[in-house]
Amino acid sequence: MNETFIHLNETHSTNSYLRELIMREKEQPEGTVVITDYQTAGRGQKGNSWESERGKNLTFSILLHPNHIPPGKQFILSQLISIAIVGVLKEYDRHFTIKWPNDIYWKEKKIAGMLIEVDLTGSSLSNAIIGIGININQRHFKSDAPNPVSLTQITGKEHNLSELLEKILDSIVDEYNKYTPDNEEEIRQKYMALLFRNKGIYPYSYGKEIFNASIEGIEPNGQLILKKENGSIHTFAFKEISFV
Ligand code: BTN
Repeated sequence: MNETFIHLNETHSTNSYLRELIMREKEQPEGTVVITDYQTAGRGQKGNSWESERGKNLTFSILLHPNHIPPGKQFILSQLISIAIVGVLKEYDRHFTIKWPNDIYWKEKKIAGMLIEVDLTGSSLSNAIIGIGININQRHFKSDAPNPVSLTQITGKEHNLSELLEKILDSIVDEYNKYTPDNEEEIRQKYMALLFRNKGIYPYSYGKEIFNASIEGIEPNGQLILKKENGSIHTFAFKEISFV
């Protein structure tokens, strides 16, 4: 995959910019990367916004054409990208994990998130816009930001954004190229091994209910399988459940 870079001083959202570019030009090559120093309307999951101080962090989107991944298995992308990012971050500290489905955590705090927006053309996945935000050199976060942390707060050093971007893109391309239908199980195991709270019993909230459960596994479609304390097994979609 050859990467083509579009570097913007400022944009509304790199995911939206890439989406608009694809709509205008009909299509864009796999490996197109849109990166910006500042987003005025950065988007997160579940309709949240993504705040990032100007010039301090990595906020970018990469375009993939995952035609070889069956549409029902779109979650493979979340797994591969999360594995790739944690792989790089683990060079700096060992306490990085993937919080289901695709947040990256350091201990109990969030360092990175991703917003994957996929088009379905006929029966295959065509454009997948992989938007990634990683807190790198930001030292102060808004007081209402949910539990953030940056790499500099962890290592005590300033980090070079271009070097980190290069490492992360290399790692993403590496993991992505490794995918074949035959190694889905290997990918699942790697993902499970890196999962936040993958062992032990923790509280979860489901609507107004709070219950204790342990992670039993992940369905191929990405749903989380939990085992409640009474031994019953339940499967949850991302929007239905949160960690307490
Ligand atoms: C989340 O954790 O809720 C997902 C955050 C995703 C943020 C990135 S920053 C680059 C890209 N452009 C966006 O508008 N969002 C993603």
